[in-house]
Amino acid sequence: MKKVGYYYAPFGRVFGGMFVSELLVKPLQEVNAAFEDFKRNKKMQKELNVLLKDYVGRPTPLYEAKNLSKKFGYRLFLKREDLIHGGAHKTNNTVGQGLLAKFMGKKELIAETGAGQHGFAVALVGALLKIPVKIFMGAKDVERQRMNVMRMKLCGAEIISVKSGSQTLKDAINEALRYYVANSKTSYYLFGTVAGPHPFPAIVRYFQKIIGEETRRQIREKIGRLPDKILACVGGGSNAIGIFSAFLRDQQVKLIGVEAANGASLQKGKIGSLHGSLSYVLQDKNGQILESESIAAGLDYPGVGPEHSALKEIGRVKYVSITDREALEAFHLLCEEEGIIPALESAHAIAYAKKLTGKLRKNAAVIVNLSGRGDKDLETVYGSI
Ligand SMILES: Cc1ncc(COP(=O)(O)O)c(C=O)c1O
Repeated sequence: MKKVGYYYAPFGRVFGGMFVSELLVKPLQEVNAAFEDFKRNKKMQKELNVLLKDYVGRPTPLYEAKNLSKKFGYRLFLKREDLIHGGAHKTNNTVGQGLLAKFMGKKELIAETGAGQHGFAVALVGALLKIPVKIFMGAKDVERQRMNVMRMKLCGAEIISVKSGSQTLKDAINEALRYYVANSKTSYYLFGTVAGPHPFPAIVRYFQKIIGEETRRQIREKIGRLPDKILACVGGGSNAIGIFSAFLRDQQVKLIGVEAANGASLQKGKIGSLHGSLSYVLQDKNGQILESESIAAGLDYPGVGPEHSALKEIGRVKYVSITDREALEAFHLLCEEEGIIPALESAHAIAYAKKLTGKLRKNAAVIVNLSGRGDKDLETVYGSI
């Protein structure tokens, strides 16, 4: 790891770092040290593995979607993260970090949430481990993800509706970071994606890499080789890093990150600092953060995790974008063809898979990481008809 002063830039040339108030440097360094101990602690690893299997429901299946394969003209596989407890990949990370918080003896979990999936995944782990939870959520997201707000409340979490700025994820993170500065002694900030200051991108990556490890084993069992392409939607980037991480060295496996057209930090952004790390960020010529806009709350974020910026720069991952309309069409397509209701975030990756129709040979294998299920989005989808 490269050290830049007391900041860290672990990804690529310059990306990542710890661009935070002086007050947060020590607490984050403590989290980092505890995380290193946690990884070596056999008891904690055992507890994590038991929870991942019996509580979260891992391993998730790798399902060959034969109806869509017929339509698209190649073999399409879905990594079913929508089937895990909580309804999205977010639970992999919250169970892991929840245990880390317990390991550190913290008395409260705080978290930001956009789609409410991460918030719910924190709420359920708070109930499970008996640690009180505070969730910061943009007022716009509180409105459009009502079902997840109810689910969080049922598990005993307190919701703080954030009315500043665009009233979405960016503002929720700002508010959560502010609270953390004042309460870092007792609170653990359970970050939801591979963004934010070091060590969060590394911690979240560690707990999500299980998606890729399972997928690698499963696709080999099914087709006897590695896939041709892997697609995943990118908000902050955690489900994508989770599945990509096991294939980064296999240059023959093409990795594709799918952003929302109006939240495409990697394609339309410039290098800058947001929420404590250096990465690609949507900003104007004066460096002011621009607002993103996506039908999928989880992709409605003007920044992206620093590892994605590094992967873009070295050309290992190709980043593309999908419009709201294309995502909605793909949402319906998956419902109608396979009887699977995807999260609107995941529908972006399906929409890009559809664009590959007729472009690949018949036995090409493409995996889409189906990051979550769409129950939370039904009001949005029906409202858009
Ligand atoms: C189902 C689902 N997929 C994807 C995302 C985007 O997050 P990430 O890019 O960190 O995977 C979210 C975020 O809330 C989500 O709920």
